Amino acid sequence: MKTFSVPQIKLAKKTPYELPTVLVVNKNSDWKKAGFNESEIEYIQAKIQDKKDLITIKSISEMVFLVMEKTEDTLGYKTMEYLRKTGHTIQQQINAEGIEGVLISGEPSSATLAIAEGMALGSYQFLKYKKDADKLKNSLANIYIYSTKLSQKEIDQLNIIIESTCIARTLVNEPQSFLTATELSKQAELLAKSAGFHIDVWNKTKIKSMKMGGLLSVNQGSIEPPTFTIMEYKPAGAKNKKPIVLVGKGVVYDTGGLSLKPTPNSMDSMKCDMAGAAAVISTMHAIAKMKLKVYVVGLVPATDNRPGENAYTPGDVVEMMSGHTVEMLNADAEGRMILADALHYAKKYNPELVVDLATLTGAAAAAIGQYGIVAMGTASDLQKNALKSSGEQVYERLVEMPFWDEYADLIKSDLADMKNIGGPVAGAITAGKFLEKYTDYPWMHFDIAGPAYLNSQDSYRGKNGTGSGVRLLIHYLMNI
Ligand code: BES
Ligand code: ZN
Ligand code: ZN
Repeated sequence: MKTFSVPQIKLAKKTPYELPTVLVVNKNSDWKKAGFNESEIEYIQAKIQDKKDLITIKSISEMVFLVMEKTEDTLGYKTMEYLRKTGHTIQQQINAEGIEGVLISGEPSSATLAIAEGMALGSYQFLKYKKDADKLKNSLANIYIYSTKLSQKEIDQLNIIIESTCIARTLVNEPQSFLTATELSKQAELLAKSAGFHIDVWNKTKIKSMKMGGLLSVNQGSIEPPTFTIMEYKPAGAKNKKPIVLVGKGVVYDTGGLSLKPTPNSMDSMKCDMAGAAAVISTMHAIAKMKLKVYVVGLVPATDNRPGENAYTPGDVVEMMSGHTVEMLNADAEGRMILADALHYAKKYNPELVVDLATLTGAAAAAIGQYGIVAMGTASDLQKNALKSSGEQVYERLVEMPFWDEYADLIKSDLADMKNIGGPVAGAITAGKFLEKYTDYPWMHFDIAGPAYLNSQDSYRGKNGTGSGVRLLIHYLMNI
């Protein structure tokens, strides 16, 4: 899985100014004491007058970046995001100069962590398929933070969060020519071994014996077999008796099946349709590596969605694992078919909370774009608020949709218990209502179709796979 590169963050015990340095400062900082000469101070003050947030001072021997702290006392979540983005901007300059190390110093320490996070995530590259990868590789390898307040544990945790986010990005960036359902499960097995969590991968025979009709029907048009991956992390002394179950959509490629995707180019990025699975696998990796005291189960149903000769056809009735019947009217609404079986299977854990992540609907992306995650579900207000708060802290904001009973009317079928598409309105919500039928526990559905895969660079989130949901889930689980 180490097919990507990302810099390491390290704790520095002293401030060696031989390295390019990022200083977190504010308007009232003592520039003389910080070692600036007269002309530099004049320059800094002019920039402050101009209300510049990021000031760069370059000389032959050093580069100093001054990050103007926006608010004096409180570091709100918006400032943290500003600092991550600034870290990304600085990282671009550092890599352009071919520099290998950088030092961040200043107060508060959470600001230095945010800058480092933005730098490292912004520096991510996936060069596996480039012949001249060595030449293209970013120079920045080490990000030192000078702080007397930070612990090694905080630094280690940040490195794990970054690594896990980049694992998710890489899984998404891998094309389906490599990342079949079987390969996705293999990657999860490798990560389970290295991080230390239990894993069980079901093959097609086992999936058949478990009567996972949703997953099997989507897989019918494919020559690649499906997999169902069960990951379990249950440390001694876990804070929760009942597990938190994470479910991820693992459609390794979505052609739309027989309802072949109609819009030009809409298939081009459909290797990203396992981004929910990537987020779940990467989160399991992170919490196990951090040895968090939380009991978490991860479930990933995986297949590709293709119009092969045995593909199920619009109008077919599918019997799901739960016993419900579904009139399948659009083979492109495949995510809910495979998630339904996983959500039904999750009941056996008597979970405290289930969160599913899925690139489920174009409607979610149309509603709020790439700027947040469309959320809905039946979790308690306490659980929802904790998730929303984590979403703000890591700037993966949740937007909660209405989840009124009336929306369920839109997926009623004359023939079966439900159909797999709604009407022309509220597409993200009717997809959620479909999933709800397979739950009997507190549950949240995150539709990440908007933020999971980007066609143009968005600061430290990068371009292509973003690792959407990983930092959010880790933050939530760290704060339980
Ligand atoms: N994988 C797509 C949703 C998607 C769209 C993800 C854009 C990422 C970017 C999903 O399987 C799908 O095709 N959904 C359909 C549902 C419809 C047929 C009811 C959609 O949104 O059009
Ligand atoms: Zn689809
Ligand atoms: Zn899909």
